[in-house]
Amino acid sequence: MKPLLLVNFKLYSAMLGEKGVRFLRGLATIRSSWTIAAAPSMLLLGKVSPLKGISLFAQHVDPIMEGPFTGHISVLELEQGGVRGVILNHSERRISLPVLAETVRLCTKARLVTVVCASTSAEAQRIARLRPSYIAYEPPELIGGKRSVIEVESQKLRTVVQLVKKKSHSATQVLCGAGIHSRHDVQEALRLGMAGVLVSHAVCGAKDPVKKEKELIGLR
Ligand code: G3P
Repeated sequence: MKPLLLVNFKLYSAMLGEKGVRFLRGLATIRSSWTIAAAPSMLLLGKVSPLKGISLFAQHVDPIMEGPFTGHISVLELEQGGVRGVILNHSERRISLPVLAETVRLCTKARLVTVVCASTSAEAQRIARLRPSYIAYEPPELIGGKRSVIEVESQKLRTVVQLVKKKSHSATQVLCGAGIHSRHDVQEALRLGMAGVLVSHAVCGAKDPVKKEKELIGLR
């Protein structure tokens, strides 16, 4: 299975509207041994999906399909819109465990890839029982910072990989994120047993985001 590089656009202004579309098109031209994925803002996602050459992710979804719901995002719309997967329980968009369980269930049924964020090793273990496609270990205090989770918590990462493997009966792979900004971070993540990384500000805030993305995966 190819490693996953998922860029979360969050709501960074450099990634909204036309600028975001330009970046997505640039990403779609990258040829590599990685799965290149992006989670644009929800409004942008609705405009661009599906987009060839890139896996598009939603930044959130609610545990509903269709019906009398106002202001929600439905699993069905993502599925029908050609979206590949969804980020759930990001520390900037937390959801309770019961709601998360139902959301993972509906997404899995709809064949959406689920990337569920966990802030601690204990949370990662609770989530692993739900058997999402991926758990992204992201300590909130390192998100958006200069020091990466790799630099600060490499020992813990190995343990998280083992615990998630055990609790999910090997159904769930582990990603890491928070402060990832260099080729070294990415290489180390793979060496520690991660199936890929989640990145945001290092790419979204770069002068040339496509170049930065290539640099992370060792392309020129
Ligand atoms: O979703 C990924 C994110 O939370 C990591 O953010 O800016 O530290 O790369 P950043």
